[in-house]
Amino acid sequence: MKIVIVGAGALGSLFGGLLARAGASVWLYNPSNVAHVHAIQHNGLRVERDAELITVAVPATTTTEALADADLVGIFVKAYQTAQAMEQIAPKLNRRSWVLSVQNGVGMEAEILKFVPSERFLRGVTAQGATLLGPGRVRWAGVGPTKLGRWEGPFTSELEDILALFQRAGIETEYSQEIERLLWEKLIINCAINPLTALFDQPNGVIVHDSELREIAGAVACEALRVARAHGVTLTEEEAIARVETVAQKTAQNISSMLQDVRRGRPTEIAYINGAVVREGRRLRIPTPLNLLLTRLIGR
Ligand code: PAF
Repeated sequence: MKIVIVGAGALGSLFGGLLARAGASVWLYNPSNVAHVHAIQHNGLRVERDAELITVAVPATTTTEALADADLVGIFVKAYQTAQAMEQIAPKLNRRSWVLSVQNGVGMEAEILKFVPSERFLRGVTAQGATLLGPGRVRWAGVGPTKLGRWEGPFTSELEDILALFQRAGIETEYSQEIERLLWEKLIINCAINPLTALFDQPNGVIVHDSELREIAGAVACEALRVARAHGVTLTEEEAIARVETVAQKTAQNISSMLQDVRRGRPTEIAYINGAVVREGRRLRIPTPLNLLLTRLIGR
């Protein structure tokens, strides 16, 4: 199976490296981090996990040539980079390729669907965590389940092959018929953890260790939950809060993706996380003042 990872940063390189190690023909495409691409070309991709170092020989490129005959294209760019990435790859994109996004947030799907038939589009959520340590070096920061679902259409034997490959690669993956619900359940967690850790410049554990932030995070999660109910989420408020707190506890030492962006002076995914809740809340006439406040405070 030929796979092209578009936006091979931390998570994209991790997925690509593991899939290459399992025997897939993988290309890592990243036009904006040339140093990362060069390091992989010269030394392979280095994946560090605790004391273990995995080195994978995997082709890396800054051009779109490899896309033409890809069976699977993984979109791993930041949510706000999706439109630009899709414009870049569209001329080489094959309408037969499966296109998979496990990006954080919601709302970037529309940018992908401008170029990809909805029955070839796979959306996913993942609890895998990765950090870019430097050019060619990724830390496998957290292991957890990945769930994939087809945007439109039934499960097929082609999807069975993709899932089997992910399993062989050590990426615990399941198919879901309810991917939209799962996206919104994950969104609730990101709404509560990401902006607060970013604003207070603290690792995820602060959400449970600081009683005031814990209270605020719970209220943000409940507000997001009211909107998420329109997308199939059936959690109670207590369950939604418990999920936020469990993730914050389990990833207590992690620096959230939003805080990483803020520390590096980069734009954040706020428009696709709390901003998405605000937009959807307005459409549904559900007030979301806390999510609006966090969206305004983070700014971009
Ligand atoms: O965006 C993130 O950082 C992650 O999705 C999460 C779950 C908040 C853990 O850091």
